[in-house]
Amino acid sequence: MSSSLVPAAPKLALLGGTSVGPITYPKFPTFTDRAIGRTAEMLRAGKLFGLGRKHVPEIGEAEEVISRYHGGRHVLATSSGHAALHSALAGLEICCGDEVITTPYTWGASISCILHQNAIPVFVDVERETGLIDPAQIEAAITPRTRAILAVHLFGQPANLQQLRAMADKHKLMLIEDGSQAHGAEIDGMRVGTVGDAAGFSCMGGKLLATTESGYMVTPHERVYWKGAMIGQHMGRSTDGGMPEDLKPYRDSLVYTYRVAPFNAVLLTEQFAKLDAELAERRRHADLLRRHLVGAKYLKLPHYAAGVKPSYHLLSFTFDSEAAGITRDTLAAALKAEGLNAVGYVPSPISDWPRLHWQDYRGPRVSWLSALEAAKVDYRNLPLPNTRWRVANALETGFDMVAPNEPMIARMAEIILKVEANLDVLREYERKAAPVMPAVRQ
Ligand SMILES: Cc1ncc(COP(=O)(O)O)c(C=O)c1O
Repeated sequence: MSSSLVPAAPKLALLGGTSVGPITYPKFPTFTDRAIGRTAEMLRAGKLFGLGRKHVPEIGEAEEVISRYHGGRHVLATSSGHAALHSALAGLEICCGDEVITTPYTWGASISCILHQNAIPVFVDVERETGLIDPAQIEAAITPRTRAILAVHLFGQPANLQQLRAMADKHKLMLIEDGSQAHGAEIDGMRVGTVGDAAGFSCMGGKLLATTESGYMVTPHERVYWKGAMIGQHMGRSTDGGMPEDLKPYRDSLVYTYRVAPFNAVLLTEQFAKLDAELAERRRHADLLRRHLVGAKYLKLPHYAAGVKPSYHLLSFTFDSEAAGITRDTLAAALKAEGLNAVGYVPSPISDWPRLHWQDYRGPRVSWLSALEAAKVDYRNLPLPNTRWRVANALETGFDMVAPNEPMIARMAEIILKVEANLDVLREYERKAAPVMPAVRQ
């Protein structure tokens, strides 16, 4: 067919054409009338803080609900996801120069919990397609100082728990899960948070399980629960009863303030009641989008093996910019002009962040730098090829499709396919827009 017979792709909004239209979402998060009524009652009754399950039964109720969701594990509700992860590390007694193998491709709080224990993050590369820690990279990073692996279930995708557990067991390491973005995600029948020696979850208002600000730690080990409680809860929650005798001499108020507010304990209970229905809607919409996008060549959703059930907190695409001949950022600008807002969630490998570089650090003093210096760890210029590829090629967008919203899925696909059909004009646009580089002065 001669090129004159190929119908012209509709003109891109970025170049003055008509946009497809904005992607809109159902209201999220929502709270049931029961949740609103119960939280209002907490305020009316002046139940504003919670020292433990005995003092505020709503905390015990929330922890029971969460425990049922996580295979009967011990649960410590906390003030945030960071508090939960920090309690997990403290509960496992990981600190003071211990090495924790982890991912450089995540939200910083996955890593700050390690730093706040004066432990040492050891970064290994991620899988290119998903951005999840690559189990195949871990073994080479193990040293006599390694105590744990911390995996993050990023964007709602479950990390490979079977391989991670096997690796941890083989080398007698602890496995910690950060499930903050992946409530309810599953892999091979295992739900995130039910495989590690401890897991931390964020329940801040932007997460799959949304309260105002809260989180929780889960662990199969009762002592980890108590030791976790000792660093952030009123008197280590010992007033609830049941604290192991050998820990009692060490309960005191030398703590971070990681208590969960009763208001949020009620929201935790009530939000769990509708979590699975919302996750089912997210998955149904994601599957529909995949079907619409079979013809997409350059912007791709990850392929998941059978048995992987992501929670779709965010949708994470990868863009083959080399084959497409334009940068990810030009693509993002074209998508945005059509109505789909997507950005690269991780701006750079965490190992590149200046607050980890004790060698040339000039900023406000931070406590973990002395531990990094003592360990002589040098994070500057780690290769991490897949992480760096994703920093340049991944695109994430919100996906709060928690109620029927099929027309928006069709629109999302229309936008993506329209932009892909216009790559030749985008190449030209990029060529013209490219700034003329000034001559480099030696
Ligand atoms: C992967 C991940 N880990 C940890 C956290 C920290 O949670 P929070 O903000 O509730 O402390 C977040 C979210 O903010 C997160 O996305």
